[in-house]
Amino acid sequence: MTTRTVIRGGLVITASDEIHADVLIEDSRVVALAAPGSQDWNADRTIDATGKYVIPGGVDAHTHMELPFGGTFASDTFETGTRAAAWGGTTTIVDFAVQSVGHTLREGLDTWHAKAEGTCAIDYAFHMIVSDVNQETLKEMDLLIEEGVTSFKQFMAYPGVFYSDDGQILRAMQRSAENGGLIMMHAENGIAIDVLVEQALARGETDPRHHGEVRKALLEAEATHRAIKLAQVAGAPLYVVHVSAMEAVAELARARDEGLNVFGETCPQYLFLSTDNLAEPGFEGAKYVCSTPLRPKEHQARLWQGLRTNDLQVVSTDHCPFCFTGQKDLGRGDFSKIPNGLPGVENRMDLLHQAVVDGHISRRRWIEIACAAPARMFGLYPKKGTIAPGADADIVIYDPHAQQVMSAETHHMNVDYSAYEGKRVTGRVETVLSRGEPVIDQREYTGRAGHGVFTPRSTCQYLA
Ligand code: URP
Ligand code: ZN
Ligand code: ZN
Ligand code: ZN
Repeated sequence: MTTRTVIRGGLVITASDEIHADVLIEDSRVVALAAPGSQDWNADRTIDATGKYVIPGGVDAHTHMELPFGGTFASDTFETGTRAAAWGGTTTIVDFAVQSVGHTLREGLDTWHAKAEGTCAIDYAFHMIVSDVNQETLKEMDLLIEEGVTSFKQFMAYPGVFYSDDGQILRAMQRSAENGGLIMMHAENGIAIDVLVEQALARGETDPRHHGEVRKALLEAEATHRAIKLAQVAGAPLYVVHVSAMEAVAELARARDEGLNVFGETCPQYLFLSTDNLAEPGFEGAKYVCSTPLRPKEHQARLWQGLRTNDLQVVSTDHCPFCFTGQKDLGRGDFSKIPNGLPGVENRMDLLHQAVVDGHISRRRWIEIACAAPARMFGLYPKKGTIAPGADADIVIYDPHAQQVMSAETHHMNVDYSAYEGKRVTGRVETVLSRGEPVIDQREYTGRAGHGVFTPRSTCQYLA
């Protein structure tokens, strides 16, 4: 028995096209697009999308559900976090499994599989954080790629936690040049930052805003430059995560002008928030502590420009929520103890639609940076990231005229504040299909824990 769903009358937007079309879905997949009203497909379910956008479900390639970090755990589980993602029009997340020092990649990956399995509302995949590069780890990278975990994050920041030195980074990059893996880099000079942290605290500079001051843009740019050169030496592609500094964008742009396979991701918080938020009175600034840090407002224009010119390819959230009460609190009196990370998995598609309304990007670029490019970058395309025959029916019916006010009162993320509290945006998710099944139906949650499945990935499909 085949279940047929037809979506009629909407404007179908993909990274390449905007067409008025009806969409036919059989079971979990898209099977056809046709001129509006031209086909009298009989259907078990018909969705009227007149006046709405029909877009691919979002692909959020950077989340940290339940991440143990900063002496606590990110407050969204895979269950609550993927449900919130669905509310926000995201139908795939790529989360970071963690290898802790002294353990194997396998142990880390198994742990993350156990956390996610049977709990997710939408499909999920994993990157692997490599914190301990050694001969065993390097061999394990090959095995993980065969299992569909094809990208590996390394840290130039967080000495003593996730940090890798340049030699370890070079070895992992050399391996990825051979096995097709993609190294994702947290590019900040953590050794230098730790010196500045110590000096700031010694001067009595303990407030959240100092987090932004010690994690200097120059040290993001320096690390970005160094990562690019190491990747060039290794002959490997490189993806730099959560780019926030204009000087780092300049490094990526220069490398790309030289023809290198170097890619960059930024996040909504760097596009919409700034050091003004970190400087909010009292301890409020702790809500905005993440790394790389928020930057002064003037950096935003360079990020938007990079997103338009393809010097930045992807917008992911780096969703890593910690409650203001009980978690961010750990850093009262010492900004370096504030758990690093912001909530956002539910907000990304809407904020980027607002960027369309504001004229920063086009509608197709919205879909490119939020759906298609992350899917291609991480080997999920065209199963995810587009609407085309054969693709998974991960589809959002989006109302481009609805008005909403973002707030912790109404969001679905398991965190007690919104980084965008009170922000008015135009546009809202109405209905979300995940592999053909309604997860959100006219703004009611109809999904279930365990519908989402682990989705193995091929290697990067974005290489020049
Ligand atoms: O502050 C952040 N970004 N927390 C999550 C961990 C990371 O570095 O991505
Ligand atoms: Zn990370
Ligand atoms: Zn990071
Ligand atoms: Zn992250």
